[in-house]
This record gives sequence, structure tokens and C-alpha cells, in this order.
Amino acid sequence: MKPQFWVAGSCLGAIMLGIGSADASEAGCLQIDANQVTAQIGPMFSGMMTEEINHSYDGGLYAELIQNRVFEDNADIPVHWSVVQGAGSVAEMALDHAKPLNDQLTTSLRLTVKEVGHEGGAGIANDGYWGIPVKPATTYRASFYARASDDFSGAVTASIASPDGATVYAQAAVDHLSGEWKEYTVSLTTPPGIKPTADARFVLLAHSPGTLWFDLVSLFPPTWKDRPNGNRIDLMQKLADMKPGFLRFPGGNFLEGSSIETRFPWKKTLGDLSTRPGHPGCWGYRASDGLGMLEFLEWAEDLNAQPVLAVYAGYSLPPKNEVVKPGPELAPYVADALDEIEYVMGATNTTWGARRAEDGHPEPFKLTYVEIGNEDWFDPSGSYDARFTQFFDAIKAKYPQLQCISTVGNEQPESKRVHSRVPDAVDEHYYRSAEDFEQEAPTRFDHYSRQGPKIFVGEWAAYEDVVPWSEKSWRQPPTSSLKAALGDAAWMIGMERNADIIVMQCYAPLLVNINRGARQWRPDLIGYNALESYGGPSYYVNAMFNTNRGDEVVHTALSGLAAGATPALDCSATKDSATGMLYIKVANTTPLSQSMRVRIEGVKRVSSRGFDVELGSSQLDVNNSMSNPGNIVPTTHKIKGLGREFTREFPPYSVTVLKIKTK
Ligand code: AHR
Repeated sequence: MKPQFWVAGSCLGAIMLGIGSADASEAGCLQIDANQVTAQIGPMFSGMMTEEINHSYDGGLYAELIQNRVFEDNADIPVHWSVVQGAGSVAEMALDHAKPLNDQLTTSLRLTVKEVGHEGGAGIANDGYWGIPVKPATTYRASFYARASDDFSGAVTASIASPDGATVYAQAAVDHLSGEWKEYTVSLTTPPGIKPTADARFVLLAHSPGTLWFDLVSLFPPTWKDRPNGNRIDLMQKLADMKPGFLRFPGGNFLEGSSIETRFPWKKTLGDLSTRPGHPGCWGYRASDGLGMLEFLEWAEDLNAQPVLAVYAGYSLPPKNEVVKPGPELAPYVADALDEIEYVMGATNTTWGARRAEDGHPEPFKLTYVEIGNEDWFDPSGSYDARFTQFFDAIKAKYPQLQCISTVGNEQPESKRVHSRVPDAVDEHYYRSAEDFEQEAPTRFDHYSRQGPKIFVGEWAAYEDVVPWSEKSWRQPPTSSLKAALGDAAWMIGMERNADIIVMQCYAPLLVNINRGARQWRPDLIGYNALESYGGPSYYVNAMFNTNRGDEVVHTALSGLAAGATPALDCSATKDSATGMLYIKVANTTPLSQSMRVRIEGVKRVSSRGFDVELGSSQLDVNNSMSNPGNIVPTTHKIKGLGREFTREFPPYSVTVLKIKTK
């Protein structure tokens, strides 16, 4: 099936009548047959791809504010911690392995207070993830495990304070510390009227000499839906506004790890935080695993999105390229994946379903898709076919209803696309320049066989000119400009028109902490620091598309073009079968205003009024930023003069969604 045709010669009446303004270029006529449904679009068509990259979770979505809270980030020194000494106080700190909190958290921070002066006490401070965000009239939950030597008898105060200690925004005291490990919790409430700042740190101060040990020091601001151990509110709001249908997790490369040993350890990410040591991530920093398996699932649930679970499939990243040999050696990994699936969707009378209930979520999560590995075409040993087969057979035997996704798709050379079992879907990844997307979008998926596996475009993004993995990209803004967003729009239009074979698609990566040293990849959709966040133009294009879709793709044909000419506009049309709302998406990637005649067939009535949602600029390099988050955002206008036929001009460098009521 080829959902869109570019035909020379039809709709000629309109073209010959010279409809459209004099200075606009004539883009032809878009014929829409609203009665001819070329594909159903399910609620899972567009979603989110996520992993621990760019401090997406730690220092990002996961609301924890203390960096290196279990003192495992560096084996030698307590990074992100410093000694605080009020006037006349003397103290020192060091990592300590004696008498650990438990067998998971084996490193604590030892604070030795030798002298306490008249002012302030002595203690430790954490600088957070590029600062601790202080907002007015906000209550933070601080907690820590501690024990003290017998000679320590004073109080410990927890506070949020400016780096010089001159301003204390909120403070609370714990009067007495036990000699045994115990958890202490206090509330810290900032006063109203203060100016928000991230120039602050979290401080624990002792007020008499002695030795104190700390572990799992935590500070949470209010979270989305008030979930304990939950997510940052502003970021969740931005994600909710995108209306994602699914959440693909936990990677990406983060699933695979740089070695088998450092793959995503889902079982170690369950349960109380005091049993989560974290693990080395593959993007240059350690993951706290505070956002662990259950938190991923609840994150999806909070957004009405379905999890798309990627299970570790026995291959870890270059340059080591470690592979678990298919056969008996791989069997425990397959069993682990089955346990993981059971944790997600098993009844509470199963081992892992019971564990999920114990963790606080008795209700099973809905799961349709399981992805086996990530980008296994990187595996130079060529073992993926055998590994995929082993996982596929085991998953299908236990859960015949699950759809298994292979990570080797049609964008890979044929030699790599060996499948002894036909996957239900294949995951294809596209990081391309905006020009490449614009060129490929109109036809790429039209040519795909309709007989093969369904397509999951599990990672895609347009960049302007520098590839995302190049060091040079670090000099560019974290989010991409309108230029790339136009490429993204063209690409999304191509995917939407081919929704008969593309079952899901998601931009990647989703999140980026914009501080120096926090980012490993650009472009990304949403940027943030400790205090605030913003969406780039591509974020808004994604949101525009996801919130204006309906459930059916209808037939479109562009006519009036010279034979062989490349269309100036990318177009698709979808419909909401329940309401009759028609959504026409148009990307004008050219510097010229393009006039287009639109003819709607296959409906009894077309409303003369509707809406136009538009994002665009005369400049290609416009972007949003933390200091100017609303520089380029979509605007919605009421429009009139619509009907079965009308002419519309699409401004240079613009993305438009026309919303028209039909019957
Ligand atoms: O999205 C960034 C990375 O790109 C993903 O981790 C990986 O799957 C791909 O190569």
C-alpha cells in the first residue's frame, strides 16, 4: 500500500484558476478522501524513548536532589560532598567501609568533628545536581541514615543554604543520634516570597564534637502526583503535554551496559532505596537506580502510557562487544527476562507478581511489546539471530500474546537482517540531517513490504549539521533549531502516512540536563537545569502531532506538480472516527510561502470554520533556551472560509496542523 500519491495533472481547475496569492509559490492541490482509510492509528503510535543519558533521571526527571547519596560515585573520594566548618569548628570527612548500613550500601561517609566553635557547627554539604533548587513556600523531605560514636551527644541540623552559609532557606533539627544505623526524616519548608535559585546546597551540621557516619542522604522536593521517590513536576507536565502512548525503557545503550556485568540490573533496582547501590551507567556516570523498574512502570502509568519493555539480550556495547553465547550460557539471561516480564504483568500469585505487589503495585501493568536487546546489529560476532530465537521461543511459550521486537531493522544491510523467527516488529533507528529526513520522508516507508514484520521506529531525530555523537555537537545548544524541527516534521508526516506498517515511533533522546558536563548527546527534546525546563522546537512539533491525530489515516494525493517534481510540501491527513475531526498536517521546509488548494472528498459536510496550529519562523536557526523558552512555540488561530475546497498559504519554514470538523 502506498498511502500518498504525487500525481501530475489532477485538481487542474483550481491551479488554472490561479488560486493562491501572487507572491506565493504554487504547491499544487492536496486531495483528501476522508472516506478512504489507509491505516488505523492506535493510541500507542507515538511515545517516548528514554534511558539514563544526559542526566535524564539522576539530575533530571527523578526528583532526588542529592548527588552521590550513597557515596558510591567515586571509590576514593566523596564527590559532590564538602566539609562545612563554622567559625572555630574543625572537621574532616572520609569514605568509610567499616560497619556498613547493610550488604548493599557498603560505603558511608564518616564525619569527624574535632572542635565546634560558637557559630554554625561542623558538617557536610552536598552541591546537588548543579545546585539545589530553592523555591518559595516549598516543603522538601530530607532523610538520612546515620549513626554516631558514643562521645557524640549533640543535635544534627539539616538545612538548605547558600554556598557561603549566609542564607539559610530552611532548617530542621534531629536532637539525638543513635549509636546504631537509623533513618531520620525531617521536613524543610522555605518561606514565601524568596527568589527561586539553584545557588544553594544541602547541609548536615553537627553541633558537638564526635564521629558521625551517614548513608543514603536524600532530599526530595514535591513530586508529580505526590509519589514518594517520585518525579519532577515540571518535566512530568511537559511529558504529559506530549500525550505519549508508550514509554520505551530502559534503553538504549543503558540497557546493554559497557559490559555484561554493568547491564541494566533490573532486580537490583527494586524495593527500598536502602537496598539500591546503583550501578555504573554507560554514559560516563553512575546511575543511582532510584528510578528503577517499578518507577519506570509507574512513570508510564502516570502518563497513561504503556511500557515497551526492553530486556537485556546477551550483548553489551563496543568496544568490548561482550556476548553471552547462545545456548546454555544464555539460558539464565532468558530466565531473567521472563522474571522481568512476570514482574510487569504477572498475577500476584506468581513469584515476581507477588514481589511487585510487595513493592506497592498489586495491579499488573499492561504489556504488549517486549524488545529483545538494543541495536544488536553492532554485535560483530553475528550471534543475534540465535540469541533472538532463544528469547523469542521462551517468551512466546509463556506469553503467546506478547509481541517480540527485533533490534535489527530494514535500515541495516541485508547481511545483518537474519531472522530464524519472524519478529512481530523490528526496531529501526534514524539519526539523520534535516535535509536527509526531508528528502527521505516522502518515500522511505512507502516502499516497505506490507507483508513483513511491523516497524517500530524506536529512535529518530534530525540534526542540523553535526552528528549527535560528534564532540563538535557539544558546542551547540542542547535542543535543535527550527531547521531540524522541520526535518522532524517531514519525517513524522512520512511515518504517519505509513501507520499501516509503523506501529510505534519515538524521538530520542528525550531529556537533557543543560549544565556543562551533564550532556552526552544532542539534539534532545527537553532541556533543564535544577530549577526550570524548556522544550525545543522539536518538542513542540512532537506535541503538535501527538495531540492532533485521531485514529485513522485517510488517503491523500498531491496533484498539479510537474511530472517528476519534488513536492514543496509534506502532507498527511488523519481523522477522528468518533468526532469527524480531520487533521491535515503540512510541513513547508522551503524559504517560500507555498499556496495549496485543498479538496476534501468522502464526507457529507465540511465545516467552514476550524483551527490552525502553526509553528514557524522566517529564520531556520531559531531555538528556545532556558532564558527564552517561548521564543518559538506553536500558536493556534481560528480560521474560516473552509469547505470542500479551499486554498491555504503555508508560510516559509513552517509546520501546520489544520483542524477541520467534518460529517
Ligand atoms: O539515543 C542515544 C543512543 O543512540 C541510544 O542509547 C542508542 O540506542 C543509540 O545508538
